[in-house]
Amino acid sequence: MNLNGINLTWLGHETFRIETPAGKRLIVDPWVMGNPACPAKEKDIRKVDVMLCTHGHFDHIGDAVEIGKKHNPLVVAIPELAHWLEKKGVKQVSSMNKGGTQTVGDIKVTMVHADHSCGITDGDQIVYGGEACGYVIEFSNGVKIYHAGDTNVFGDMAIIHDLYAPQIAMIPIGDHYTMSPREAAYACNLLKPKTVIPMHFGTFPVLTGRPGDLQKLLPGVEIIEMTPGITLS
Ligand code: NI
Ligand code: MN
Repeated sequence: MNLNGINLTWLGHETFRIETPAGKRLIVDPWVMGNPACPAKEKDIRKVDVMLCTHGHFDHIGDAVEIGKKHNPLVVAIPELAHWLEKKGVKQVSSMNKGGTQTVGDIKVTMVHADHSCGITDGDQIVYGGEACGYVIEFSNGVKIYHAGDTNVFGDMAIIHDLYAPQIAMIPIGDHYTMSPREAAYACNLLKPKTVIPMHFGTFPVLTGRPGDLQKLLPGVEIIEMTPGITLS
């Protein structure tokens, strides 16, 4: 994997901290303080410039309001989730929908489909959160990363390859709430990435899929098992 000036840190589950070639700090799916897979030393967030939210489940936006209010990042989300975040006091929200691309900081972000649910737990209510999505993130150095969000496999992943050709795919493999390794292997055959970073496994006992299971099904593909808190450059 050639990151060419990008620093990539997995904070466990589906949360990633990414430093762009220009030094901006991006967080995808801000579940940090409440995330049991996030190392203690990573829980004290000091700076965030851009925050991308894939959907409204607690294990993705659990700390979005707190981080958003404290660090005032530019927040990207689908309109219904964006509206909820604004109501909770997050200021710089830049909503968008599937198929659209916008520039935030020094990255280009395209919102793409994900096949999943999207209710927001708000007190004892579940609030409509729009739809779940994924993102293709294009950096100024030409690296493109697809973060699939929570999803099952769907045939239109082939369109994501045809239109955007991300070299790196972050895909869920845990099973139960998302793709299993078997579905994830099928997804990789549609997406054709050079490198796969598995996520959404091991956090809870039901998330049983493992990177080794995926590697067995895709012997020719580079599959990187990250360790939470360790940065790849
Ligand atoms: Ni979810
Ligand atoms: Mn999830």
